[in-house]
Amino acid sequence: MNTKYDVITDPADPRLAEIGALLNSGGVAAIPTETVYGLAANALDPKAVEKIFAAKGRPADNPLIVHICDMAQWAPLVQEIPPAAKKLAKAFWPGPLTVILKKTPLVPDIVSGGLDTVAVRMPSHPIARAILKACGVPLAAPSANRSGKPSPTDGPSVLADMDGRIDAIVDAGPCSVGVESTVVSLVGAAPRVLRPGGVTPDMLEAVLGPVEIDDAVLHRLADGQAAASPGMKYKHYAPEAQVVILKGDFAAYRAFVEAHRRDGTVALCFEEEAALLGVPAVTYGRAEDSASQAQRLFDALREMDAKGAKRVFARFPAQSGMGLAVLNRLVRAAAFRVIDLAAPPVRVFGLTGKTGAGKSTVAEKLRQRGWYIIDTDVLARRVVEPGTRTLSALTDAFGQSILLPDGTLDRKALVRAAVTQPNGVQTLNAITHPAIDDLVEDALLDAAAQGYKNALIDAAALLESPTRRRCDAIIVVTASEGTRLRRIMARDGLSEPVARERMKMQKKDDYYLSAADVVINNEPPFDLDAQLNDLEERHETV
Ligand code: TXA
Ligand code: MG
Repeated sequence: MNTKYDVITDPADPRLAEIGALLNSGGVAAIPTETVYGLAANALDPKAVEKIFAAKGRPADNPLIVHICDMAQWAPLVQEIPPAAKKLAKAFWPGPLTVILKKTPLVPDIVSGGLDTVAVRMPSHPIARAILKACGVPLAAPSANRSGKPSPTDGPSVLADMDGRIDAIVDAGPCSVGVESTVVSLVGAAPRVLRPGGVTPDMLEAVLGPVEIDDAVLHRLADGQAAASPGMKYKHYAPEAQVVILKGDFAAYRAFVEAHRRDGTVALCFEEEAALLGVPAVTYGRAEDSASQAQRLFDALREMDAKGAKRVFARFPAQSGMGLAVLNRLVRAAAFRVIDLAAPPVRVFGLTGKTGAGKSTVAEKLRQRGWYIIDTDVLARRVVEPGTRTLSALTDAFGQSILLPDGTLDRKALVRAAVTQPNGVQTLNAITHPAIDDLVEDALLDAAAQGYKNALIDAAALLESPTRRRCDAIIVVTASEGTRLRRIMARDGLSEPVARERMKMQKKDDYYLSAADVVINNEPPFDLDAQLNDLEERHETV
């Protein structure tokens, strides 16, 4: 499909009549609104609305907002317009507010996502209003991004997501609000904000009295919990990078970013701060100015991808005015990862020892005690998945014979190649250890964001890997040779000679013991639980 792209800033531009006719006859066009760009189609024509879902890749159970340009268009869509709804319309329409009421059969199921309600809004953008007038029908219009991406706040961002997928794009420059409309439901006992936006809770309360804020605005829904607003349950607004929000003052933020910087780290901060940081920065508005933060946020998230960011440390937004709307979008872009810089940092323990000593048993017991467990064996498999940089570095170093026919890593062939090549083992470690360590750091950030007190890094090769420096204390697990032999034979189904061969390749006891801050003897008659009690008590004060 060829997508027509027009820059139109004059509401009297005759090309808007063509866009109106296109929409009236079942076409799909991206149009500017004061909040974000919308992907519009005739709301009363299910075939036209289907094209929106196809172009966005949007789940069918996520309903659309219906846009109108005068009050007369509202009544046929809803069963009743209660006084509260009239008050809201009078105060905030046209503008960034969406009102949910019980729908009539005129609204197709595909628009309401199968619900018995419909969300309606009257936008204030002069071009949106001109298009609505020209087409003469209400327009269903979700934000004009591919599903999961940040909403577009200018024409080029729409083009990047929708070129070739829709009939036309109208570019009228950047949106003034920058985040989507406030969504208020009036079908329950009390008015309820399902999505915060340009009309703040204070503004709503000034008109309606008390309003409720839905749980999903700032919190991740539990598995199986129903969403009042279906859109809130999906991954949203996310750039490719891992985003972590850091809550605290700028000095604490700068120190944390400095301590965690590496290739691909980008700061998402306020305009005044970018020059004060030692990492590349993208700004989203001015400190203490929520409206400017809202206006810039989505564009800034898109810039992250353009910059090739791998990890983004975001400043916590201001909490006044539109702050709730900004935080609502940002926590979703960050998959709810927020680290409170004022809280004590996670205590990081490394766990190592010889094969068969019983590291996994210790790790499992600490998991049950509420520790965050990082299993580097799992990470080691992840870093060499097909398509990773690590796997291609390995084939560069050891040749294509380390791959199986399906392109996955042949671990046995890799070990053979590494032990036969001069310095092969060092080369292997130099390629894989830093990659694993990157994932360890991601996991530690996740532990901090989830408020864990203790994290355990389970790593057989801890002492010779760069991950060692992350540990506040090193735990070494030991057991007698006979016990380890029995465990290895049982665990890996090995004969005694093979198990003994494997044990011979291990480092000496002293290699581990001289690095240990804590030694756990995992063999009867030593009481494992008593030793772990002791470990937790002693390190409570560290
Ligand atoms: O500012 C805006 O509202 C933009 C511009 C284009 O108008 N539109 C927009 O639409 O953000 P969309 O589809 O991206 O977001 C609509 C949100 C979704 O979270 C959806 O689940 C919710 O509104 N919604 C729509 N109808 C609903 C209903 N009947 N009940 C509950 N939530 C509803
Ligand atoms: Mg959207």
